[in-house]
Amino acid sequence: MIEPADATPAAKLDDAGTSTDRARPPTLTEMSHNAGSVRSMTRPSAPGASTRALPAVDGTEPLIWARGLVKRFGDFVAVDQVDFDIEKGESFGFLGPNGAGKTSTMKMISCMSPLSGGTLRVLGMDPAADGPKIRSRIGLVPQEDSLDLELTVMDNLMVYGRYFDLPKKVIRERANRLLEFAQLTERANDRVDPLSGGMKRRLTIARSLISEPDLLILDEPTTGLDPQARHLLWDRLYRLKQQGVTLVITTHYMDEAEQLCDRLVVMDKGTFAAHGTPRQLIDQYSTKEVVELRFGADEHENIAPKLDGLAERIEVLPDRILLYATDGDETLSEVHRRGFTPVSALVRRSTLEDVFLRLTGRTLVD
Ligand SMILES: Nc1ncnc2c1ncn2[C@@H]1O[C@H](COP(=O)(O)OP(=O)(O)OP(=O)(O)O)[C@@H](O)[C@H]1O
Ligand SMILES: [Mg+2]
Repeated sequence: MIEPADATPAAKLDDAGTSTDRARPPTLTEMSHNAGSVRSMTRPSAPGASTRALPAVDGTEPLIWARGLVKRFGDFVAVDQVDFDIEKGESFGFLGPNGAGKTSTMKMISCMSPLSGGTLRVLGMDPAADGPKIRSRIGLVPQEDSLDLELTVMDNLMVYGRYFDLPKKVIRERANRLLEFAQLTERANDRVDPLSGGMKRRLTIARSLISEPDLLILDEPTTGLDPQARHLLWDRLYRLKQQGVTLVITTHYMDEAEQLCDRLVVMDKGTFAAHGTPRQLIDQYSTKEVVELRFGADEHENIAPKLDGLAERIEVLPDRILLYATDGDETLSEVHRRGFTPVSALVRRSTLEDVFLRLTGRTLVD
């Protein structure tokens, strides 16, 4: 059977034992104290964060409001005092490498895991006090599919819909529409087990929509999918956004973040290294173009110093040298004029991968 612990209204906290002392709902005084503190409000890492000490109660409250959010596992700090606001109708991304703290953050937002510190409001409610109510209004696509492999595609939707106390007739109508949306109508009566990874992912997304949520949380929706399946999913997510659904997405694919996210944070080691729209981040942290040069094995460290002055910034990676420049073609011509003959050369536009490299000194997908 489907695990109720998978984001259903009946879900239980996955690690309620780890931080029970910090999981209690903050009092109003604590909330205003924490959220209004100088540390929280003046740190530069509050993406789109308002300077309000508490979210407004006039209907303009962000859909998700976090201040000084912390997740600890024992002594280890997985999420380290992050601040963010996510507005209704936007598509907000958490971009970061393995272990950055993305899933830990998603689990707190989706009330699957208690906070270890800070303040969080979701849909105007407090996850510690209103977890079931919040869960009943969000759709969750967890990082790992948790479908019932023995049941049919249709029955997975039927069973899931019942967690939301929906009448069978309503669930069936929605399920038919969602299977169409996920291009799985032909497989409605097949068992889930033999479906491909992409089909299972699409079914998980369809399942998360059975309650017609206003807020959809997607933890790495396309990891492991082939390019065609990824593009199909992007298209489906884009359509949901057009319908006014707020999307919160984690990914370590920069192209996915560029395609899907209005705003995003670059997350690394539990904190936000930067935030903004994809365009702003690229403008702020990279140059317009990048020249990628590949020389012979082990030559990059030797050659890089000789390229000094050719670009605004040079990054040396084990397999390539990156020259950051405004005019990539001109820079590449200069490389050739200086007598260098790379095995291969490519001029491209900057991406979020370059932003990540600049901010952390590491590539996003190792
Ligand atoms: N239940 C847990 N107990 C102990 N440590 C945990 C637990 N869950 C996560 N962590 C640790 O917290 C850190 C952040 O993990 P998290 O799953 O949030 O990262 P992530 O950004 O989602 O990574 P990925 O891209 O690999 O999914 C990791 O070092 C991880 O080992
Ligand atoms: Mg994760």
